Amino acid sequence: MNSFKEALRKIYLSYLNDNVDHSELNAATQSYKKLLFDWYSNHFSNELDPENLASEYGTAISSLGAASCIEDGYRTRQFIRGISKALDQKLTYKGPIHVVYAGTGPFANLLLPIFQEYAQFDIHYTLVEINPPSFTILKRLMEEFNQSEFEIKLKLADASKLKIPFDERPDIIISETMQAGLRAEPQVAILQNLIPQAKNNAFIIPQNIKLSLGLIAQPKASNLTQQEVVYREYPVFETINFSSTVDSFSSVHTQIQEKDLLINSCLALLTEIRVFEDELIQMNQSGLTVPLKLMDLPDEQATNYSIISRYQLKPKPELIIKMM
Ligand SMILES: C[S@@+](CC[C@H](N)C(=O)[O-])C[C@H]1O[C@@H](n2cnc3c(N)ncnc32)[C@H](O)[C@@H]1O
Repeated sequence: MNSFKEALRKIYLSYLNDNVDHSELNAATQSYKKLLFDWYSNHFSNELDPENLASEYGTAISSLGAASCIEDGYRTRQFIRGISKALDQKLTYKGPIHVVYAGTGPFANLLLPIFQEYAQFDIHYTLVEINPPSFTILKRLMEEFNQSEFEIKLKLADASKLKIPFDERPDIIISETMQAGLRAEPQVAILQNLIPQAKNNAFIIPQNIKLSLGLIAQPKASNLTQQEVVYREYPVFETINFSSTVDSFSSVHTQIQEKDLLINSCLALLTEIRVFEDELIQMNQSGLTVPLKLMDLPDEQATNYSIISRYQLKPKPELIIKMM
């Protein structure tokens, strides 16, 4: 484990470099992936499980899918930086810090390089994972990784229903259980359950996930070098507004005037993530923030568009969008 921990330290320091050097980021991401996948194949004879698990509030992705999230290197970097900054701020207060990480996957990707960096502080971690094959791997990894130097509890549980004991109320909640457009996975339901159980001044990571309807100017087919550009955004949903559990979210009405349309406009669903303070994940910086094209909006129809959107938790979490 010593060489494993040394490798993790290098990866951590690389993610902490303020300058985004894409070849360095890529190298750190590849070595992080190799470290974990090699550890896995040295301890388990079967392949990582590829089956997703359906849960009440959305899909829990498979062990293979969750492990592979590391490959989204900019995302991983931004979370690791954001979590480190949040810990640094909390450590200026007295007393133990409670951290709940909901949806760890098999390797707790977003905290694994952080544990040893904060080993001298009184931090209690609770790692929650719903998918049994991922939990089995996580347990084995932690048995080997944590030789009693860290306070880590593991829970095989649904984080959208988990009850946290009062004396373990979190100072920091971490969850990345999402896809672009907050589709399919249970991020929203997990935040809705955990935020009301956190301390008043707790940090939620990501601090905000914003969904917007966006007007995209599409390049003409003949000019393939031209990039698509979002030229207008209409925010429709933000997780920062969560304070208590509600079963249904209110509808948002968006009006698009004919004068706002360019030739070749298209309507898209945009996702932007504020991980923590200035650690952002903006459009196309990660698989989580790719624009999802909804429809072409031809301007020659000489019409205004009226759109109603509403986030739905069940049966399948997603933003429902209706043209009126
Ligand atoms: C997108 S993966 C992220 C893995 C890792 N945290 C990362 O960011 O690289 C989401 C993980 O959350 C788990 N998960 C999904 N729904 C959950 C729930 N309701 N409670 C606990 N874990 C959940 C999935 O099984 C999966 O391992």
